[in-house]
Amino acid sequence: MKTALILFLVTISLGLICGDDKKDNEVGENVICKKCNCDVKMKIIECSNKKLTKMFTVDEWAALNATKDDYEILKLDHNLLEDIDVPFPVLRFPLKVIDLRHNKIKKIISKVFYNLSSIEEVDLSFNLMTADNLRPDVFEGKYSPDEYEPLLTLKRLRLSYNLLTNLDSEIFEHTKHLQELSLANNPFQIIHTSVLSAFTDTPQLQMLDMSRMELSSLPLDTFHPLKALKVLNLDGNLFKTFPEALKLATNLRELSLNENPIGDLSAENSIPELAKLEKLNMTYMGSLKVIGKGGLSGLENLKEIRLSHNHHLSYIHPSAFTFPEKDNPEREQFPLVEKVFFEYNNLSSLDSHVLLWNNVKEIHLHDNPWLCDCDLQWFSDILMKTVKETTPHLIDHIKCAAPKKLVGLKLADLNTKHTELRCLDKFGANPELDSALLVALLIGVLLGMPLAYASIMIYRRGCGSRRGPADFSRAFYKRADMNDDIHI
Ligand SMILES: *[C@@H]1O[C@H](CO)[C@@H](O)[C@H](O)[C@H]1NC(C)=O
Ligand SMILES: *[C@@H]1O[C@H](CO)[C@@H](O)[C@H](O)[C@H]1NC(C)=O
Ligand SMILES: *[C@@H]1O[C@H](CO)[C@@H](O)[C@H](O)[C@H]1NC(C)=O
Ligand SMILES: *[C@@H]1O[C@H](CO)[C@@H](O)[C@H](O)[C@H]1NC(C)=O
Repeated sequence: MKTALILFLVTISLGLICGDDKKDNEVGENVICKKCNCDVKMKIIECSNKKLTKMFTVDEWAALNATKDDYEILKLDHNLLEDIDVPFPVLRFPLKVIDLRHNKIKKIISKVFYNLSSIEEVDLSFNLMTADNLRPDVFEGKYSPDEYEPLLTLKRLRLSYNLLTNLDSEIFEHTKHLQELSLANNPFQIIHTSVLSAFTDTPQLQMLDMSRMELSSLPLDTFHPLKALKVLNLDGNLFKTFPEALKLATNLRELSLNENPIGDLSAENSIPELAKLEKLNMTYMGSLKVIGKGGLSGLENLKEIRLSHNHHLSYIHPSAFTFPEKDNPEREQFPLVEKVFFEYNNLSSLDSHVLLWNNVKEIHLHDNPWLCDCDLQWFSDILMKTVKETTPHLIDHIKCAAPKKLVGLKLADLNTKHTELRCLDKFGANPELDSALLVALLIGVLLGMPLAYASIMIYRRGCGSRRGPADFSRAFYKRADMNDDIHI
C-alpha cells in the first residue's frame, strides 16, 4: 500500500514538472519532429525507415499541429506498421500525400482520412492488405448532400504489391473523384464482377495500372464504366491475344502490354481499333515473331511505338500499321508516327513501306541483326540521317550481321563511305562468292576460247565465238530503285 502511495505521489509530481514544459503551447513536446525529420521548406514530415510500429497518437499530432509550420507530405514508408488504428485528427495544415509503402499493414480503421480535407494521394503499396481487410469505410469522408460521405479531394490511390485477389464492389463509393489507381502486382488472376461494380464508382479515372496481376483474360465490359481512362498498363500479365475488352477503352491515349505472351499478330489476331491511342508499348514479348498484315491496324493517332526487346521478332509486314482511308476505303492510310523504338529485336530487314518515315523524328534501330543488302539501301540513305540528327550516340550500334563480308560493320560507316549495298542473287547467295565464280568462269572461257578456237580452226577451219564478258557483268549490280520505295 505504501509503495503504491509513493508511486502515486511521484507520478503526480512528475506530471506537474512535465506540465511546466507544456506551458507555451499547452500541448506535449513535438514528438513527431523528434522521431522524424520535419523539413519545413519542402513541407515534408519524413519518417521513412524509423522502425515505427505504431501510428502517431492524437496528442502527438496536436503538438505538431500547435507549431506554425505547414506540411503537405507525410512519409511513413519502410516502417513496421501493421495496424493503422488511429484516425488522423483535424490538422491545421493541408496534408496532401501520405506514403505508407513498405510496411506490414494488414488492417486500417474506418474513416482514417475523414479529417484530412486536402488529402490527394494515399500510397499503400508493398503491404499485406487482403480483399477482406480493405473495407469501403476506410475511405469514408464527411457528410455531403450530393455524394455519400465523400473524400472529395482523393485523386491517387496506390494499392500495388499487396495480397489483393478481389475488390469490394463498394470500395470506391467514397472516392468517386479518383484519377489514378494502381492495383499492380496483386494476385487477382481473375477480374470478378465486384471489381466491375467497383469501377462504376470511378468515372473520372484516367490512369489505371493493372500490371502483373496474373490475368489471362478480362471481362468484355471491364473498361465500359471508365469513360475517362487515358493510360492503361497491362504489363506482365498472361494475355496470349489482345484482350477484347480494350475495344471499350475508347478514350485510351497510352497502352502498355510489355511482357505478355501475345503471339504473332495478324489481321485475325490484331489490336482492337483504338482511334485515340498515341503511345503503345510492346516490349519483352517472347512469343512475338511476326507482325503481319493489319496486326497493328486502326491506330489512327499513333505517335510513339515501343516495339523493342522482342528477341524473336523477325518480320514486320509493310501493311502492319495501315488502315483503310475513310473516304476511299480502297486506299491505305498510315498513322503519323513520330517516335519509333525497334531496338533489340531480331530484325534483319525493314520494309520502306512500314511507316511514313519522313514523318519520323526519332528512331531506334540498334542491336538488330541487319542484313546489309540492297533492300536496306534506302534505310542507310534515309533513316540514318534521322538517327544522326536525333540520337547520334546510338548510331554506332546499328550494325550489319550479314552478308559475311560486312559483319560487324556500322551502317553509318557504309553510308559515309558511299558504299552501295549489293543485292543477293536469286539463290540468296553472297555476290562476293558469285563474282569469284564468275571470274573463274571468265578465266575458263578466256583460256578455253583460244583452245576451242584453235581446235575448231584445226578441225573445221571455221569462225570463233564472239561472246564477251560484258554480258556476264551486267547482272552483277542491281540498284535499288529508291524513289519507288519511299513515301512522300
Ligand atoms: C489543429 O489546429 C486547428 C486550428 O488551429 C484546430 O482546429 C485543431 O483542432 C487542431 N488539431 C489538433 C489535433 O489539435
Ligand atoms: C477527427 O478529428 C477529431 C479531433 O481532431 C478526432 O477526435 C476524431 O477521432 C477524428 N476522426 C474522426 C473520424 O472523427
Ligand atoms: C511506356 O514505356 C515508356 C518507357 O519505358 C514509359 O515511360 C511509359 O510510362 C510506358 N507507358 C505505359 C502506359 O506504361
Ligand atoms: C532470328 O531470325 C532468323 C531468321 O532471320 C532466325 O533464323 C533466327 O532463329 C531468329 N532468332 C531468334 C532468336 O528468334
